[in-house]
Amino acid sequence: MFDNDKKIEQYIAAHTSAEDELLHEIYRKTNLSVIQTRMISGHVQGKILEFFSKMIKPKTILEIGTFTGYSALCMAKGLLPDGELHSIDINDEILETAKHMIAKSPYANKIYLHAGDAKDVIPALNKKFDIVFIDGDKRNYADNYNTVFGMVNIGGFIFADNVLWNGKVVETVKHNDRQTAGIVEFNDLVQNDSRVENVLLNLRDGMMIVRKLKN
Ligand SMILES: C[S@@+](CC[C@H](N)C(=O)[O-])C[C@H]1O[C@@H](n2cnc3c(N)ncnc32)[C@H](O)[C@@H]1O
Repeated sequence: MFDNDKKIEQYIAAHTSAEDELLHEIYRKTNLSVIQTRMISGHVQGKILEFFSKMIKPKTILEIGTFTGYSALCMAKGLLPDGELHSIDINDEILETAKHMIAKSPYANKIYLHAGDAKDVIPALNKKFDIVFIDGDKRNYADNYNTVFGMVNIGGFIFADNVLWNGKVVETVKHNDRQTAGIVEFNDLVQNDSRVENVLLNLRDGMMIVRKLKN
C-alpha cells in the first residue's frame, strides 16, 4: 500500500493516545520475557479494541487467547458497570502472567480467566456474549466461530485477529500449512454466512469484524 510502511506505522502510533502505564508495562514485560512477542495486540490495535468496546458498551465479553492480558484489559475498559469479561488460554504459564497483571488493574473483579482448550471451555461457560474476540490457535478459528455463534447475542460482534496472516491468505496455501488454511477457511465461512454482516479491516495483520444479524 505505502512504500514507507514503517514510517506510516510510527506516524499512526504517534497520533494515537498513549497506552496507560499498566498496558505499557505489560507490553514491555512481554517483550522482555516471552517468546513470540508478536502475538500481543499492542498500542494501536489495543486502542481500537478499547474504542470498539466503549462504543458497544458490552455486558459480556469472551476472549479466546488471553496471552499476557493486554487485549483483555483494553476491552474491559468498555464494559458496563456490572459487566464481565471471560478469557481463555490453553497455556497455564502465560495465564499466571496475565493474572498477575490484571490484578494490578481496576478490572480484576470483572475479568475471569479460564485455563484450557477453548473448544472445551466455551460450551461450559453457558453464557451469552455481546463481544467475542477470537485470537487463539489459527487452525481452530472456524471451529471457534461455529462453537461460539449460538452464544453471541443478536446485534453482538465477533472480532477475529490475524485474518490476513502476513499476506499468506492471497497466496497458494502449502499442503502442510494448517494455520493459513485455518484462516482462509474462517474468512470464507464468515463471508458466506447469511446470518451476519462483516468487514475485513486492514489493521495490522488484518481484523475481521462480524455483526450477528440472526440465529
Ligand atoms: C495471539 S495470542 C493472544 C494475544 C492476546 N489476545 C493479545 O492481543 O494480547 C494467542 C494465545 O492463544 C492461546 N491458545 C492457543 N491455542 C488455544 C486453544 N486451543 N484454546 C485456548 N487458547 C489457545 C495461546 O496460548 C496464546 O497465548
